[in-house]
This record gives sequence, structure tokens and C-alpha cells, in this order.
Amino acid sequence: MIQLIRGFKDILPEEAALWQAVERTAAHLFENFGFSEIRVPIMERTELFARSIGEGTDIVEKEMYTFSDRKGELITLRPEATACVARSYIQHKLYAAEPVRKFYTIGPMFRRERPQKGRYRQFYQINAEVFGVASPLMDVQLIHMLTTLLGRLSVDDARVHLNSLGCPDCRPRFKAALLEHTAGVTDKLCADCKRRREVNPLRLLDCKVPDCRLAVADAPSMEDFLCEDCSSHFESVKQGLDGLGIPYIIDNRLVRGLDYYTRTTFEIQTSSLGAQSAVAGGGRYDGLVSALGGPETPAIGFAIGFDRLVEILALAGEVYGRNLDLFIAPLGAKAQESALIHAGALSCVGVSTEADFSGKSLKSLMKRADRLGARFVMIIGDAELEEACVVVRNMQTKEQVKVALEGLAEKVKEIVSSEQ
Ligand code: HAM
Repeated sequence: MIQLIRGFKDILPEEAALWQAVERTAAHLFENFGFSEIRVPIMERTELFARSIGEGTDIVEKEMYTFSDRKGELITLRPEATACVARSYIQHKLYAAEPVRKFYTIGPMFRRERPQKGRYRQFYQINAEVFGVASPLMDVQLIHMLTTLLGRLSVDDARVHLNSLGCPDCRPRFKAALLEHTAGVTDKLCADCKRRREVNPLRLLDCKVPDCRLAVADAPSMEDFLCEDCSSHFESVKQGLDGLGIPYIIDNRLVRGLDYYTRTTFEIQTSSLGAQSAVAGGGRYDGLVSALGGPETPAIGFAIGFDRLVEILALAGEVYGRNLDLFIAPLGAKAQESALIHAGALSCVGVSTEADFSGKSLKSLMKRADRLGARFVMIIGDAELEEACVVVRNMQTKEQVKVALEGLAEKVKEIVSSEQ
């Protein structure tokens, strides 16, 4: 038997209902916050990710699914969506008519990480990206939108971790201080961190290896190195969050795994997911659009780990089963033909309907209706066909009524809706 690729997974129908519910809630809320959906391809030129996420990052160095197509061009399955949305924004000059654009996009991402609970090689993200707003109030509004979504989904164990990574003016001074701080202990660092010191020293701060943690335990904090503009931006974000009553934790170790960030960065962490504690992450990337050849454009966004979010909801007992209004139990071949017609008509008027064409006994059909959780069962037998009617049974109260075939769909719809 051919099996799934390691780190990939199926989302089975029983789970898909929960995914759909989350997707609907997010899309509805984001649209009310002024966001529009954008759909971008899942493959892009490798260069797009190398330049956006950064050559020295784990994602670009070790985790991308990259291959050359038949003409020898290097292409990559997207490991994240921000670079793709920025590419699209620039390519289609989406800034031309209106400089402030807000997008959301939902879809699969691919990273060749070591699979474990909450970490997959194909995973899904819900992204929100804002282009053209420099104000820290946008940072606050975006975090507000994110926490509101989590609140609506009843995720109660979510903490906002907040940091500022400064800008190209002030960050080099911090990097230098970090290098100086770790200069005496390089031999104690893990192999990854030894390399990180050379290519991406900020990542020294979020290594999980105990010896590395010790080495940076009293490392300087970025906050002390922020230039005046970055510092006042950060203060305004904090004040804005305070004003909206959104609690947050200042986390100077939050450096994120992508190089494009400037100023505000944030993560939503929970304790219900074990090692994979980040359910969402994001921040400002004011330099990305211009680095990719577009106009100078401030930008900020986040991505929610859809798989992780659904896992939290499932842990909390959230289930969204199929809501089956009506099960049609036809007895005999003629009744099955009639069931086919009525099932079609009822489904079209908005009654969720399952018709059974197995030809089994009424007893076994009723068992199946029970298994499916049908609220009503419509029984069609020879006697009913002769009388030009059907019997509709309320599975909860066990009450039965006869309904004439004439105008059946509308009448049954009324019965089913009045009981909701
Ligand atoms: P990220 O932190 O790499 O940021 O990913 C965002 C979220 O995606 C993570 O917090 C996590 O929930 C989920 N995630 C990441 N990797 C995996 C995985 N292997 N398996 C399951 N879930 C995973 C970004 O991707 C940025 N593009 C976010 C962003 C948007 N920044 C600005 N705009």
C-alpha cells in the first residue's frame, strides 16, 4: 500500500468541518477589518525566498523544497506566504490606485523540518498582511484582530509575546554587542550557534540548547539599543495595546526565524501544544517591498499556524460535525427513485439531506440515520407512494407527520427549520 510522505498528513472529513469553521470565522472577521482575500501560487522562484527570508536562516539553508524544473530554473514550494504576497503586490502595482492595501490568504506551506506533534512538512497558515501603513497604531490593530479571532474561537490559553528588532540603523550595534558578549564562550555553543554567530547572530538568542541558553542568559537586550524612532514606535505599540486592554509579555528573546523583520515582532504562544508553543507569529517588514524592487512601503503582517490552532480547539473539545437535517429512508426500488428526486430538491432549498439507496430494511436504515445524527427521517414506502405522501419523523420527539408530495421540499424545509 502506498502511504503518505513523512511529515505530510490528510485532513479527514471529520476534521475538515472544524477547519472550515475556523476559516469562515477568520475570513469574516478579517473582511470586517478591511482585508480582502488574495490567492498566490504555492511555487515561486527560489530567489524570492532566499532574498526575503534571508540566506542565513534555517528555512532557506535547510528546510526548503527546492528543485530545478525541466529548463533548469530553480523553484521552491513556498515555505511561507509573506514573500509571495509582497511579490504579487509589486508585480501588479497593487499600490498604484490605493497605497494602503490589506490582504489575507489561507493555504499550505512547505518546510522540511523534523516532523513532530504540531510540526509538519506541509502545514497551513492563515496570513494577514498590511502594506502602506507606517503608524504603530496599525501594529496595535493587527494584534487586536488576531487576539479577537482567538477569542472568538475560544482559545483562552494564548499569550502575546512582544519585541522590537529595531531597524538597519540601530540593529548592527546590538549585533555587535551580542557578538562581544558571546566572544569568550564560543566553544560552549552548539554547532548551529557557532555558525549563527557568523551569519545570523540574533538567532543565538532563541536557541533551545541548554549550554547556549546559559551563554546568552545575561546577554544585552535589543530594547536598550533601539534608536529614538524605533523606541518611540515600540512605546506607542505598548500604549496602544494597553489602551485596548490587550495583555502582552515583553520578550527580548523573540527574534523570529526570518530576516525581513524590522521593529515590532510578536508571537502568540500557548502551553497546550507542548514544544511547538507558537500558534502565530508576525511583525513589521518595512524594508521588504523595496528590497524586492518595489517602492519604499512600510508593511506588517502575521501568520497563524492553522494546524496548531485546530489542534488546540480539538483539545478543548470543539467538534463541528456535519449537521444532517434529514435522512431519507426509501423502501423498495420505486421509493428509491422518488428519494433521489426529493433529495435533490431538498438539498437545493437548503436542507442538508442524505438519501440511502442500499435497499436495506427500515430497521437498518433507522440505525444508519441514528449513526449519522439525522434530526429527521423521511420514510417513503409503497403505501406512502400510493397516497402521494411521505412520513417525516422527528428523531428526538419521535413524532411523525404525513406530508403530501405536492410542494414537498418547501413543506419539509419548514418542518426542519421550525425545530432548529
Ligand atoms: P513563522 O513564525 O515562520 O512566520 O510561522 C508562523 C506560524 O506558522 C508559526 O507560529 C506556527 O504556528 C506555524 N508553523 C510554522 N512552521 C510550521 C510547521 N512546520 N508545522 C506546523 N506549523 C508551523 C511566518 O511564516 C511569517 N511569514 C509570518 C508573517 C506574516 N510575518 C509577517 N507576515
